[in-house]
Amino acid sequence: MPDARRAREDRAAEARWRDIGASPPRQARRSRLCIDVNPTATPRSGTTVDLSPIPGDDAGMDSADLRLAVILASTRPRRRGASVAAWVMDQTRTRDARYEIVDLADHPLPILDEPAAASAGTYAHEHTRAWSAVIEPYDGFVFVTPEYNHSMPAGLKNAIDYLWAEWLDKAGALVTYGNSGGLRSGEQLRTVLSAVGIAHVRPQVTLMNRDDFDGYTAAPNVHHEHGLAGMLTDLELWAAAMRGVRSAR
Ligand SMILES: Cc1cc2nc3c(=O)[nH]c(=O)nc-3n(C[C@H](O)[C@H](O)[C@H](O)COP(=O)(O)O)c2cc1C
Repeated sequence: MPDARRAREDRAAEARWRDIGASPPRQARRSRLCIDVNPTATPRSGTTVDLSPIPGDDAGMDSADLRLAVILASTRPRRRGASVAAWVMDQTRTRDARYEIVDLADHPLPILDEPAAASAGTYAHEHTRAWSAVIEPYDGFVFVTPEYNHSMPAGLKNAIDYLWAEWLDKAGALVTYGNSGGLRSGEQLRTVLSAVGIAHVRPQVTLMNRDDFDGYTAAPNVHHEHGLAGMLTDLELWAAAMRGVRSAR
């Protein structure tokens, strides 16, 4: 990526960190994340997906090249979600991959009003093209979502329904919260992510309203830090592997 563009994106990313009350990382470290993919292995399912390194790549994947979005799904005033997303971003500080906040409150969308299904790839409205441009560059997503009436917030479902190719063959991970850790919201979200072709990793961080918050501020039990770190490692591995899947299509 050209230096000027990267610098512009860095400045925009720093502004988004500050919006949610977190301070941006001092510097991004660059090192290598090696994905153990055997390009000569016979696919067990009979598929022909080629997982060999993307042309131009060498032995491993530079995880600093991965761009991952932390999608903040709650848009309510005084939402708990903002401090959950800030906690997630704080935990990504020491990682090599590049994490950025995408706050749905910054991208208000009407209830789906596109005449064609997103899979057609023809967007009639400027708000859809703008949302597409936000999501398209990312290799994967951490969905930070509460549970509303045993499901995900309607705004998150709506934002997912707007797009197709921008989600397809990318990786996903979930941080959920609620009175029961947002587990039902997470299960429903996984069904939706499967429908749009996001490969979602098994580990999930589930924060309890009663135990992992100080009022409306996230104060997760320390075991969640370990859980989040492991989940992000899986997410980065899958995000790197899904690049291979996209290039094979
Ligand atoms: C419309 C609505 C429905 C809710 N339904 C549930 C629910 O089904 N299960 C649950 O555990 N918490 C539920 N809650 C409580 C939320 O977990 C809690 O309000 C949480 O702070 C919401 O996240 P937010 O503040 O980031 O929007 C609900 C809250 C709202 C506003």
